[in-house]
Amino acid sequence: MKRLLALAAAAFISVPLAGPAAVAVTGAPGAPGAGDPYFPGQGNGGYDTGHYDLALDYSPSSNHLTGVATISATATQALSRLNLDLVDTLTVRSVTVNGAAARFAQSGAELVVTPAAALDSGAAFTVVVRYDGRPTHVLDPDGSRDGWIRTSDGVYNANEPQGAMTWYPGNHHMTDKATYRFAVTVPSTRVAVANGDLVSRTSGGDRATFVWDAKEPMASYLTTVSIGKFQLGDAMLGGFRVITAVDPKLAGKAADFAARHAPVLDYFGSLFGPYPFSSTGGIVDHEPNVGYALETQTRPIYPVVPSERLLAHELAHQWFGNSVTPTRWQDIWLNEGFATYGEWLWQDELGTRPIQDSFATAYAVPADDDFWQTPTADPGGPAALFHDPVYDRGAMTLHVLRRSLGDATFFAILRAWASEHKYGNADTAAFVALSERVSGRQLDALFDAWLFQPGKPSL
Ligand code: TRP
Ligand code: ZN
Repeated sequence: MKRLLALAAAAFISVPLAGPAAVAVTGAPGAPGAGDPYFPGQGNGGYDTGHYDLALDYSPSSNHLTGVATISATATQALSRLNLDLVDTLTVRSVTVNGAAARFAQSGAELVVTPAAALDSGAAFTVVVRYDGRPTHVLDPDGSRDGWIRTSDGVYNANEPQGAMTWYPGNHHMTDKATYRFAVTVPSTRVAVANGDLVSRTSGGDRATFVWDAKEPMASYLTTVSIGKFQLGDAMLGGFRVITAVDPKLAGKAADFAARHAPVLDYFGSLFGPYPFSSTGGIVDHEPNVGYALETQTRPIYPVVPSERLLAHELAHQWFGNSVTPTRWQDIWLNEGFATYGEWLWQDELGTRPIQDSFATAYAVPADDDFWQTPTADPGGPAALFHDPVYDRGAMTLHVLRRSLGDATFFAILRAWASEHKYGNADTAAFVALSERVSGRQLDALFDAWLFQPGKPSL
């Protein structure tokens, strides 16, 4: 389910070895990265994953994780070798490809796998990786923690932009979406919550296994397996399956947390088109130091009981970011600008803040402020992914587009964006082209000023 970046086409190399005992090796090594300018090592070339089956066993007290990752994929070139992304603080014990033992080597965050036999272009194959160790988070270029973040009773697992490699091997770039099944075994005093639908919860002795099925394609930065002494809720509310996991310390404040989802989703559904996933909900953990929430697919993770505004932000991401995902990190305003606009829309709908006020406050930043030096569509590097211009200038861009085209055309554009790229990837150029197509207008001047040039655009 990958839409490839504009990569240099990998050469097909056929290398006949000299000598009578030699075996003909066909295929070339898959690229060690997906070619993203902000995170060059992220993802890999030469194959496209379709499904991950992750069987994990975790002990919070010792922070020990044992994993078996079964990855179904398709070769997109003849492959002599392929890489997966996994940090080497975890130790790989064995790798098989199509059931046969494969050679492997770990180097930094690259797991290099050499199958016993080369894979033909177009061939479906299955990789099984057995691994274990004591996972730890990574530090992002902006200094925040990302990945397997330990808490006093488990893990706050948020993986944007690069944390997935801290707990399972995979093709960890957003362009390679896949479906997932998680089977997570933890002490029976804990709950393990992941994306998608809870399929079963079984316990034997002092261990419990939670199985989760994420049926819709998902980018790996949106996966989560969060563990804690959660109160688990699973109910049909307003037509949505709402699965919530709340730290008991926050349960009082979260009494209506599950019930607050349907009104936001109904409103966004009326503007953006149908909610794209089979379930919703969220994880509220008591981890005051993380500093950010994340829109993990179907089930955002929050370090606090979310305000209406934060709830709206993470739920808007389900359409914008999760179902429609950028092709490169520099297009992150397609996530954060849209989710910020979702906050503004929901506050306007609630009557707590007219949308024109939200726009005016953001626009009031003085023209000589650094804020305006960052073009919306390329914040300049991985350390600036989650800085204000991406969020606020992104949302302002949408509001200016709306004011220029009118509500009917503007929301038709958002619905077309959500439906035409459902479960896929798309970049800023595609959004500009779609806006021009749906509106029938030439929008170069507007988008150039708001997306591509530094400086405060005039109104
Ligand atoms: N995408 C998150 C949100 O806006 C924000 C986020 C993810 C973040 N990782 C981060 C913010 C790291 C700061 C630092 O909902
Ligand atoms: Zn966001």
